[in-house]
Amino acid sequence: MYDFNKIIDRTGTNTYKLDLREKNFGEADVVPLWVADMDFAAPPEVQSEIQKRAAHQIYGYTIRKDEFANSIVDWCAYKHNWEIQANWIEYSPGVCPALAFSIIALSNEGDGIIINTPVYPPFHSVVKDNNRVLLKSSLIEENGRFTFDFDDFEKKAALETTKLFILCNPHNPVGRAWSRNELERINDICLKHKVIVLADEIHSDLILWDKQHIAFASLNDEAAANCISYMAPSKTFNIAGFNTSYVIASNPVLLSAYRKTQVRLQLNLGHVMSSIALTSAYNLGRPWLKELVRYIEGNITFMDEFLRANMPEITFHKPEATYLTWLNFKAWGLSQKDLKKLIYSQAKVGLNDGSSFGAEGEGYMRLNVASPRATIEKGLKQLLECRPNM
Ligand SMILES: Cc1ncc(COP(=O)(O)O)c(C=O)c1O
Repeated sequence: MYDFNKIIDRTGTNTYKLDLREKNFGEADVVPLWVADMDFAAPPEVQSEIQKRAAHQIYGYTIRKDEFANSIVDWCAYKHNWEIQANWIEYSPGVCPALAFSIIALSNEGDGIIINTPVYPPFHSVVKDNNRVLLKSSLIEENGRFTFDFDDFEKKAALETTKLFILCNPHNPVGRAWSRNELERINDICLKHKVIVLADEIHSDLILWDKQHIAFASLNDEAAANCISYMAPSKTFNIAGFNTSYVIASNPVLLSAYRKTQVRLQLNLGHVMSSIALTSAYNLGRPWLKELVRYIEGNITFMDEFLRANMPEITFHKPEATYLTWLNFKAWGLSQKDLKKLIYSQAKVGLNDGSSFGAEGEGYMRLNVASPRATIEKGLKQLLECRPNM
C-alpha cells in the first residue's frame, strides 16, 4: 500500500544527509547511505496532520496536552508489551539532549560512565563534553555477532566512581536487540554496584524478523527503579526534524532530577508540531510501520545476497533491529584512511566511518539501508566497481 521504492529528491530541504556530504566525505556527490534517517516519505497519515496544522497561520508557543502522554502509554503497550503510566513520562527535545540532561542530573564531574564500544559517537561525546570519565567496555565479536563482555563490564561497574551506564538497546551500530538473559545480567551487575542505567531505546520500534524488543525497565520493578528509558517516534517514522522524544522513569526521584535539569536549561517547551507529530505517528502510523519493517528486511536480504554473490569478503551479521548495518571490510586489507579514501572518493559512496564508533570500528563501515532498493543497489554496484583485486 505504501511505496517505499519511490525515489524522492531531497535537494533543497537543507538535509543533513545530502548537504553535509562535502564536509564529511570531501565529495558532494556520494550516494548517501550514512546518517540515521530514511529516504522514505513519512506516513501519509502523519503528513496530513502536520499539513492541517501548518495550514493555520499562527505558530506560537504550544503545549502538550494529555493526548501526548496517553499515546505513548498506548504505544508502549502495543509495541513493547510494556505497561507504563502517563505520569512516568516527560517530553524531551531529542534523545541526545535527554542523555546530556540525565548525566548532568545524576552524576558529577569526574564520575565514570560506561558505554559499550563500538557505539553511536554521541555516547562518547556526551560523556566527555560533560567532563565525566568515559569507561569503554568493548563488545565481543563472534562470527560477526556481538555480545557483552560481562567480566569487563562488571570490572568497570565496580569502580567506586562509576555512576551511570548508557545502554544502547537495540544497539547502534551492531544491530543487537539484547536478549532477556543479557539484560538481566546487566541489571544484576548495575544493581549490585549501584550504577544507574540510561536505556537509549530509540531504535526499539524497528525490530526486525518478528523479534520482540525487551524494554530494559520492563524486566522487573528493581530494573525500572534504577533506570531512565529514552524513546522517540523520530527514527521509526522518519520525523527526526521535529526534535520530539521523551523519557520514561517510574522512579519519581530519577524523573524529578531529570525534569529539574531540563527546566534549569530552559529546554522543556518543545516544537509547535511536537505533539501532532508524535500522536499522529503513534496513533495512525501502525500499518505504515508494519510495511516499512518488511521493506527494510527486504533491503537487508537484498544486500546480503548481493554481497555473497559479488563481494563475499565483505561480511555482516544481519541486524536484529534498525536499518543500520555494520559491514566488515577487513578482508580488503586497507588502513581505515585508505578504506575511506577508496569508498568516498573512488566508489563515491557515503558510509559512516567505523572508527568514529570507537577503535573497535577500524575495518568497518556503517551502511544505512533505509533508502529505496534502487539506491542501495546503486551504492553496492559502485563499491563493486572499486573493489581491490583480491
Ligand atoms: C542510539 C541513538 N540514540 C540517539 C540518537 C539521536 O537521537 P536524537 O536525534 O533524538 O537526539 C540516535 C540517532 O542516530 C541513535 O542512533
